[in-house]
Amino acid sequence: MEKIFINIGTLIHFDENSTNPIVENGYLIVKNGVIDSYGKMEELELISENYEIIDVDNKLITPGFIDCHTHLIFAGNRADEFQRRALGESYESILQNGGGIHHTVSATRAATFGELLKLAQIRMKKSLRYGVTTCEIKSGYGLDEESELKILEVAKILKKHLKQRVERTYLGAHVVPKEFKENRNKYIDLICNKMIPFIKENDLAESVDVFIEPTAFSIDEAETIIKTAQNYQLKTKLHTEQLTHTGGTQLGVKYNSLSVDHLEEITRDDIELLSKSNTVAVLLPIATLFANKNNFIDAREMLTSGVRVAISTDFNPGSAHSQNIPLLLSLAVLKNRLTPLEALKGITLNAAYALGLNKELGSLEKGKKADILIHNISDYKMIPYSMGDSTIEQVFIDGEKICLK
Ligand code: NIG
Ligand code: FE
Repeated sequence: MEKIFINIGTLIHFDENSTNPIVENGYLIVKNGVIDSYGKMEELELISENYEIIDVDNKLITPGFIDCHTHLIFAGNRADEFQRRALGESYESILQNGGGIHHTVSATRAATFGELLKLAQIRMKKSLRYGVTTCEIKSGYGLDEESELKILEVAKILKKHLKQRVERTYLGAHVVPKEFKENRNKYIDLICNKMIPFIKENDLAESVDVFIEPTAFSIDEAETIIKTAQNYQLKTKLHTEQLTHTGGTQLGVKYNSLSVDHLEEITRDDIELLSKSNTVAVLLPIATLFANKNNFIDAREMLTSGVRVAISTDFNPGSAHSQNIPLLLSLAVLKNRLTPLEALKGITLNAAYALGLNKELGSLEKGKKADILIHNISDYKMIPYSMGDSTIEQVFIDGEKICLK
């Protein structure tokens, strides 16, 4: 069935073939689940009666939101640590004393496959209501063979059965699990020689990620893992420059990784390197806020240097316990100094680049998949201005309307 959206107050398309990302008073045609064309209402020619007409009533249309960095599959919560951190304990000291990520690893290992699947489905539904049509999901709270595979199997089921698109990332290199504390090389060996080959062979992930930090993995260890992943034709991403400057950005650029994420401690030289690369800078301001810190990245310098900037929730139980996309957009504007339009580009087109899916997703240009949001407002600036209130009215994936209930 062909669909035509008419009377679109503001159409934000981010079509890279156009110099203007916005059409006022527009229409949009979808054929076979794919964007066919868009333009101004007054230029719309006679349409055949085969079209299903959707009157948008002067509201806003944007591409579907792409949450390109989440740790959505986990059990338990870290509300106690949230309180301890608020009272002054640091994230790092909690982690070094066996809490933090280790706490969630214990809870996730103890959870059954069914329990994890149920939690994940509830969270995916929540993200859909925030307009997330594509969600990246990392493993990393199982760490041992059996538990990482349990998480990746849950992600595989979500990918297969949900209307939302799911991209899976293996983050076995989140931290060294307690049982390998005295023998970290053995853990790297497990990741590189057993897990990555198995994951590739059984189609359990599209990408591999490494957390580079003194409390997690070193640059050399990350390089070994990235090289292995790329040998198996898996895409790579890095958590880096979050708590300390480690040089992970340089490593990411060297290996043409899709993205480097977090980046609170990024340097001018890193920004220069990124600007000459295809690697996307993924900002995670909910994590900066949740850490109770004020070192939000000023993205203006990145943008003027030509770095591609995406934003994401980083949804996880320890450092960013929120799936709230409008709140993310508010923080990106207030704290990372993106304009509302740059923030929207960061959660759509640039997020698609951060997943290597920019040829099919992220903008409403001819030939791309028709993942479309109708908002209940007409001025896109209302989204970040609303500080966490969702503006999503209708969601379409592959041109089909999705039930939000
Ligand atoms: O992206 N930085 C590492 N990993 C997560 C946090 C994990 C946790 O604290 O549970 C992040 O912030
Ligand atoms: Fe993360």
